[in-house]
Amino acid sequence: MEISAKAKDIIEKEAKFYTHTFSRLPVVIEKGSGMYLWDVDGTKYLDMFAGIGVNSVGHCNKEVVKAIKKQSEILMHTSNWLYTIPQVVLAEKLAKISGMEKVFFTNDGTEAVEAAIKLVRRGKKKEIIAMEHDFHGRTLGSLSLTWKENFRKPFEPLVPYMKFAKYNDIGALKNAITENTCAVLLEPIQSESGTIIPDKGYLKAVRKLCDEKKIYMLVDEVALGFGRTGKLFCFQHENIMPDVICVAKAMGGGFPIGAMLCRGIDFNPGEHGGTYIGNPLACVAANAAIDYIINNNLPENARIIGEYLLKNLKERNLKVRGRGLLIGIDVRDAKGAVMELIEKGILAIYTGNTLRLLPPLIITKKECDKFLGAMDKCKCLKG
Ligand SMILES: Cc1ncc(COP(=O)(O)O)c(C=O)c1O
Repeated sequence: MEISAKAKDIIEKEAKFYTHTFSRLPVVIEKGSGMYLWDVDGTKYLDMFAGIGVNSVGHCNKEVVKAIKKQSEILMHTSNWLYTIPQVVLAEKLAKISGMEKVFFTNDGTEAVEAAIKLVRRGKKKEIIAMEHDFHGRTLGSLSLTWKENFRKPFEPLVPYMKFAKYNDIGALKNAITENTCAVLLEPIQSESGTIIPDKGYLKAVRKLCDEKKIYMLVDEVALGFGRTGKLFCFQHENIMPDVICVAKAMGGGFPIGAMLCRGIDFNPGEHGGTYIGNPLACVAANAAIDYIINNNLPENARIIGEYLLKNLKERNLKVRGRGLLIGIDVRDAKGAVMELIEKGILAIYTGNTLRLLPPLIITKKECDKFLGAMDKCKCLKG
């Protein structure tokens, strides 16, 4: 693909000055609005991955922008030595919509998982069981519960007493639990691994097993929470209640914030903390984003539009799976497909040979048709 001199300059400087961490797509983005992004040359792209599931309310959502602007003129940071109103408003809102009792704020998803790990490991029992193919983050605690060997291997030895059981296999989980197990952690749908959906009844069975064994059930809703799968939280598809929920991504409408929500268990003073967490600017952004998601019934839009997209993709004889607006398509060459889509003004991402779609939840059928039209012209999708 052709890259302008302006974009090339940024790409070269990034390679020179930024740690060699990311394999980025060759697009330099300057601005966004709703479903669309524009690069430094003014080319417009339909965004089908929403900053990895973050921009659920669309780019630069007016309500979120308004809240940040207003708050930035009165108070941006205090630390947790002091009380602030936006933090308490958000904590109450999260507790009410999730059915949890308490909230601990974080700056992102991996910190939400770290908080959950610390919360449940304070007693005599230390073992936590996550699932094969789970992704929970990159910091050392959450990484210890992340399945992919190439993410973990260079950093071993990691946190002890962390292990994995086969996903969607209640017998395997039962066998993995020992007298030292304090908790089970899982993604209600595995997102980063390419949209792996467990059988109906699996979450309920995990809940029952955790009750029987008197261990905590932790769910990682970082990628799924706030409507992505057609319900406000993905675990609600099975009408269960976890003990701990980790959230982030869509929560801040594009502003970095996460949280660990819990019930029946709480920290003692001094056991955990953070200078920035629950910062007023992040909290007003999250309050506005969550209100927008609820007031505009975006989970329902995700359900309806998700079904429309899935149906249309299936009609094209593609190997596709998904729930709501979390969709994975197995293709011959996913990276090639993403590059072809860029040329057609569409941005998507991939894992292995799975093309991943997780657009803003404000998407309409019109934009889906635009995406489908572009896809029909991609050679790499077939086979
Ligand atoms: C399920 C899940 N948990 C945790 C994380 C880590 O979140 P973050 O990248 O905000 O640290 C991610 C990120 O993709 C995720 O998908």
